[in-house]
Amino acid sequence: METKGIIIQDPKHPRDEELYEAARILREGGLVAFPTETVYGLGGNALDDRASGKIYAAKGRPSDNPLIAHISTLEELGPLVREIPESAKKLAKAYWPGPLTMVFPKSSQIPYSTTGGLDTVAVRMPSDPVASRLIHLAGVPVAAPSANTSGRPSPTTAAHVWQDMKGRIDMIVDGGPVGIGLESTIVDVSGAVPVLLRPGAITQEMLKELLGELQIDPAVLGPVEKGVRPKAPGMKYKHYAPRGELVLIQLKEETRAQLGKKGSPLYSQTLRRMTDSGKCFGLDLESFYLACQVNQAAEEKERAGASVGVICTDETIEEYGIAIKRSMGTRGSEASLAHNLYRVLREFDDLGVDYIYSESFSDTNLGRAVMNRLSKAAGYHVQMV
Ligand code: TXA
Ligand code: MG
Repeated sequence: METKGIIIQDPKHPRDEELYEAARILREGGLVAFPTETVYGLGGNALDDRASGKIYAAKGRPSDNPLIAHISTLEELGPLVREIPESAKKLAKAYWPGPLTMVFPKSSQIPYSTTGGLDTVAVRMPSDPVASRLIHLAGVPVAAPSANTSGRPSPTTAAHVWQDMKGRIDMIVDGGPVGIGLESTIVDVSGAVPVLLRPGAITQEMLKELLGELQIDPAVLGPVEKGVRPKAPGMKYKHYAPRGELVLIQLKEETRAQLGKKGSPLYSQTLRRMTDSGKCFGLDLESFYLACQVNQAAEEKERAGASVGVICTDETIEEYGIAIKRSMGTRGSEASLAHNLYRVLREFDDLGVDYIYSESFSDTNLGRAVMNRLSKAAGYHVQMV
């Protein structure tokens, strides 16, 4: 199949003429990849069995892993679901359109092929102007998983989509790089208490503040044990594993305590080292120490003859003696880390390194979603130092 490409001139203000053909393809059962504020999606008509079949085939995705239906206005929600609970009304008012997906009891309009056989349906109203206008023009709800081959990082640029989907889908709409870079937050509102199924840019803190009560699905917190079924079926798959072995390096509580104690041997030693290095302006002692440890682990592997890469930050990159290093952004902005994570992981795949050592990041707000994706990519392989 030939895959057409359309470049949107001004992605903040797409013109309808630029989107008519893509909308027609969607309406007629074809597949179109398009930008959203989170990651690029691979869209098909959510009401059409054959379209969802094509999505699973193009991604190489197991067909029991349900798809998210995307809408462009609140009126489009009613026909897709059996009821809209109070919690969902609150969430929609606060965060739609935006990077939030909600799971509802499904209506008979939504085929089981879209929901992977479940009696619930996941729905999201994206805020990205290209996504929103395209869905509106298509006139149907658009089922869209991330537009990557199953097992690869989600695409954050049209070039990533092209790498994975060229020849497999009808069209790619290029609206430039996405804003957030991580998939939407998923909240199940179908039960008595809302449950967080996947962390994202609408953070746990924001949800708790709005809802009061919020349960966290165990699959969000760590590896899923054998025999346990996570509520978001996608969380059970080893989502993405880089070609090289990824190891996350994290500080022990005890190390943090020592580094926080002025006058402790570790504090004095690290401060001296940081001052001598002279390359680390604006860096705190903990991050400097972590970078030294990541560097040491990477250098040891490199000396043993392996090809090694490092995932670091703008503040620490100068500290590394390793040749293959990529900054995920700045520690001062969790948004920058989220934005670059998948791009960096794709770069390491292209480079074909044997081992990747990564700094770890704070586990609050958007950092929680960053650490969730990074830990999953590492197969929960964490080295404590
Ligand atoms: O940001 C996003 O959500 C992107 C963009 C394109 O909108 N989409 C996305 O879709 O990440 P996907 O298919 O890669 O991930 C959807 C996740 C999967 O983990 C799936 O198991 C879960 O949502 N999911 C979908 N329907 C569900 C349902 N009815 N109940 C529980 N989990 C569901
Ligand atoms: Mg995905």
